[in-house]
Amino acid sequence: MAKPAQSGLDRILTLELVRVTERAAVAAARLRGRGDEKAADQAAVDAMRAELNRLPIRGTVVIGEGERDEAPMLYIGEEVGTGEGPEVDIALDPLEGTTICAKNLPNALAVIAIAEKGSLLNAPDVYMDKIAIGPGFPAGVVELDASPADNIANLAKARGVTPADITACILDRPRHARLIDAVRDTGAAIRLIGDGDVAGVIHTTDPAETGIDIYIGSGGAPEGVLAAAALRCIGGQMQGRLQLNTDDKVARAARMGIADPGKVYRMDEMARGDVLFAATGVTDGNLLAGVKFGRDSINTHTIVMRSSSQTVREIKARHQDMEKF
Ligand code: FBP
Repeated sequence: MAKPAQSGLDRILTLELVRVTERAAVAAARLRGRGDEKAADQAAVDAMRAELNRLPIRGTVVIGEGERDEAPMLYIGEEVGTGEGPEVDIALDPLEGTTICAKNLPNALAVIAIAEKGSLLNAPDVYMDKIAIGPGFPAGVVELDASPADNIANLAKARGVTPADITACILDRPRHARLIDAVRDTGAAIRLIGDGDVAGVIHTTDPAETGIDIYIGSGGAPEGVLAAAALRCIGGQMQGRLQLNTDDKVARAARMGIADPGKVYRMDEMARGDVLFAATGVTDGNLLAGVKFGRDSINTHTIVMRSSSQTVREIKARHQDMEKF
């Protein structure tokens, strides 16, 4: 495949990013199963921020812990990195699935995406309607505005199976009651997840391993941008539309440069250009193992990938320098 002639991102950064999510994941994992979402999130934020500030970048957080007045660290607009190197935009979630981590349930992750400046959708922290499938399907086989029945039927047809062979991943929320009924009416199965839709979207890229063919439903817009960045690297299709259903949300979005409140964003409009993405498992999950604490070492499992080369690396690391964590 022809590669872009040039990219502002350094190849080295791909591996540097792994340290960032590893550190956040280990910090959060120490507080797994303690019932304290805030403490686990704070530990992950502190660790991710410290490691990010070692990266040779001039980074700006565009998807972060919140707006400046509500998040003291890794807030939207915060500048991170050493101040030397490429100018990049950063989307991050030091602990995606705070409740999952607090309850020690599957699929909590530490997540980050880096892209050339101006390449990531600056989304406010509102809900986003999302639909996603993995790679290998013709463009438009599923559409955000098509009915669940049509989407499941088209996906089944493209796979050469019946709707009964399809499994949709949906966040278990009262707001999804009608969607759940509509998907079940097609004969498809549903994997209801308590939290963590970045993992839910990524799981569509490997149905043989995860058992999930399609992600549908609304979740956080920041998580939508992170998931789109991941799919840009692995391949797949995703669409999202911000739920800007109050004047205040429309105004917040407008301040972030969003002029059309009803726009359906395709994957490469949410994450353009050269994108790097890394996620480390905090708790065990379908694609990534959680952090394991041994007597003399800590083991982590990370996926790191790059859109321009479509390289997907899995890094299982054994950290013996326990002091560092
Ligand atoms: P947190 O890590 O911030 O707790 O987010 C977890 C999550 O499940 C996301 O994966 C998802 O996008 C969002 O919350 C859904 O929001 P809600 O819980 O309001 O339905």
